[in-house]
Amino acid sequence: MSRIYAFGLVFVALGLTSATFAGWTETRTADEPKPLGEIMEKAMKGGLAKKVASGKADDKEKLEFLDMMIDMVSHDPPKGDATQWKMMAGTVMMDAAKVVVGREGAGEALAKSMNCKACHDIFKPE
Ligand code: HEC
Repeated sequence: MSRIYAFGLVFVALGLTSATFAGWTETRTADEPKPLGEIMEKAMKGGLAKKVASGKADDKEKLEFLDMMIDMVSHDPPKGDATQWKMMAGTVMMDAAKVVVGREGAGEALAKSMNCKACHDIFKPE
């Protein structure tokens, strides 16, 4: 199974055939990320992040989360250094990807890297 997830992950990352994979049905192009505010509301505040990190999310929810994390990294931050943003947001995305491919301990890593306050202190405008 994990091999299938790995392939799916590549497709999601490339923004290609994710629509046909694992029932994840929303089709978008690779270069139109969801707005950051929407990602925060849906992925972070909405509880999906916690669900994915705690291992309670199903496969579709994990992919949905990873998809939004890809979008998160695609943006430049509204405040702060763009390179530092890529590294911090990128770590969250990588940990989300590790959850999707089923790496052991990935949920704990995600819970750690996905530090709301640490990131907001640097990148969120007042
Ligand atoms: C990798 C960095 C990062 C992490 C991690 C992060 N956020 Fe955010 N968050 C941001 C940025 C940047 C903004 C400002 C977005 C903007 O102004 O466009 C934001 C804005 C928000 C907002 C306001 C959304 C809006 O409508 O503008 C909420 C709510 C939020 N975050 C919740 C959370 C929660 C809850 C967590 C932790 C589970 C979290 N965020 C983790 C970067 C992050």
